[in-house]
Amino acid sequence: MTAKVIDGKVFAATVRAQVQAHVAKLKADHGIQPGLAVVLVGEDPASQVYVRNKHASTIEVGMASFEHRLPEDTSEADLLALVNSLNGDPKVHAILVQLPLPAHLNSELIINTIDPAKDVDGFHISNVGLLGTGQKSMVPCTPLGCLMMLRDHHGSLAGLNAVVVGRSNIVGKPMAQLLLGDSCTVTIAHSRTKDLAAVCRGADILVAAVGRPEMITGDYVKPGATVIDVGINRIERDGKNKLVGDVHYESAAKVVGAITPVPGGVGPMTIACLLANALTACCRANG
Ligand code: GUN
Repeated sequence: MTAKVIDGKVFAATVRAQVQAHVAKLKADHGIQPGLAVVLVGEDPASQVYVRNKHASTIEVGMASFEHRLPEDTSEADLLALVNSLNGDPKVHAILVQLPLPAHLNSELIINTIDPAKDVDGFHISNVGLLGTGQKSMVPCTPLGCLMMLRDHHGSLAGLNAVVVGRSNIVGKPMAQLLLGDSCTVTIAHSRTKDLAAVCRGADILVAAVGRPEMITGDYVKPGATVIDVGINRIERDGKNKLVGDVHYESAAKVVGAITPVPGGVGPMTIACLLANALTACCRANG
């Protein structure tokens, strides 16, 4: 079977173009420019790359980008004060605090201090509750990007068996909620799941979000299944740095019906969905 490669780069470019057109119209018709504030605490190299990419993409679609880089030893009080001032800033419609935060900061407290209407990550407990009860919320960007690719590929997802491997608050749990909302039969599997390979082989849709390089091999995949690989792992192979997913691409690609590559799959969609969420936050704030 020849697998269809789901091209996240192309899809993300389409989403960004739609956001850009909407932003231009908001400016022209109403004089409103959506603004996204990103807060980075510390020097984590991966986070610095993400934040730089977010800034560039935000500018590219015509939004205002407010970057706040704070030192590693920033106090909780200072960070809370910044978040509160962004909550009250009418030019800022969307706020993202880059995770992970340094260990001395209480991430839950910081995230739950963001105005839920500006919580572009959908991590605030109010948004988590709204999503869990099927109400209008901000939806976490990575699962939203995965859902968009799945809908695009399948049309309706109703009745399909979906297995999400990974139970994080950022990806696994919201992904499962979204798939349930689209009437999939959903299983959340994780590191303690018995006979994980057999569970995965029951999936029409398999979402891998475990954070373990190339753990999901072809043996885990039902022939013809759709595989979404959320993993971004840096490994060293043959003396070279390489980016790989949680799925062992070569073996899985021989079995699947469709698969997202790493890089060029979920990653670009996450940033596109961040921009789409920032636009949504701006539109909701302005009625
Ligand atoms: N760190 C890794 N992924 C994310 C994300 O989606 N949002 C935030 N805020 N931090 C992250």
